[in-house]
Amino acid sequence: MNQLIAPSLLSADFSNLKKDIEMINNSDADWFHLDIMDGVFVPNISFGIPVVRDIKKHAKKPLDVHLMISKPERYFSDFKNAGADIISFHYEASNHLHRSIQVLKDLGVKAGVAINPHTNISLLEDIICHVDMILIMSVNPGFGGQKFIENTYDKIKKLKNIILSKNTNTLIEIDGGVNLDNASKLFNAGADILVAGNTVFSSENPTKTILDLKK
Ligand code: DX5
Ligand code: ZN
Repeated sequence: MNQLIAPSLLSADFSNLKKDIEMINNSDADWFHLDIMDGVFVPNISFGIPVVRDIKKHAKKPLDVHLMISKPERYFSDFKNAGADIISFHYEASNHLHRSIQVLKDLGVKAGVAINPHTNISLLEDIICHVDMILIMSVNPGFGGQKFIENTYDKIKKLKNIILSKNTNTLIEIDGGVNLDNASKLFNAGADILVAGNTVFSSENPTKTILDLKK
């Protein structure tokens, strides 16, 4: 079982991003989680390709890029070229999921599919064997610091059962409202990667918080 932590830079200090990147480099964190928002698919705008490219110059761990954008296929190669190691796009934003996953594979980047809280896990059954990771949103996407949705545990269990029945190696990532109270429960339920923004960056000692989330 994996127990990886991916701090989300959405809650970092954008006036001194390098400092927070170095903090993650020197911590027990496993990935950088980068939230891309377009103000259309979600009601917020974050940052784009040039920022990802600059983060890549300093990051010593994989870049986990979470696209919360409409028609995500338009930008797959741009984010890959900017340094993404894994790209997740939303089930709700893609008309041709199977084809889009294939495009990512052909680009040589790991493929993830993200699902909103209202989307049923069973809808992923026919594509699960093609994806490297499923990102379950445990808040409605768009903002950091929101309250965790409890139904997520149920979704993890359902997804785990599909993964076992299809005998795939698909990873499960949980994104939104992850904190020191629910982290171990989420890992025990079957999560492989936990994203944490507010919990890490609003804490007194982010490095220690990352370690505590892992334990
Ligand atoms: C929300 C983003 C999350 C967010 C998590 O739309 O996808 O990655 O940064 O932030 P926290 O951990 O603060 O809920
Ligand atoms: Zn995210």
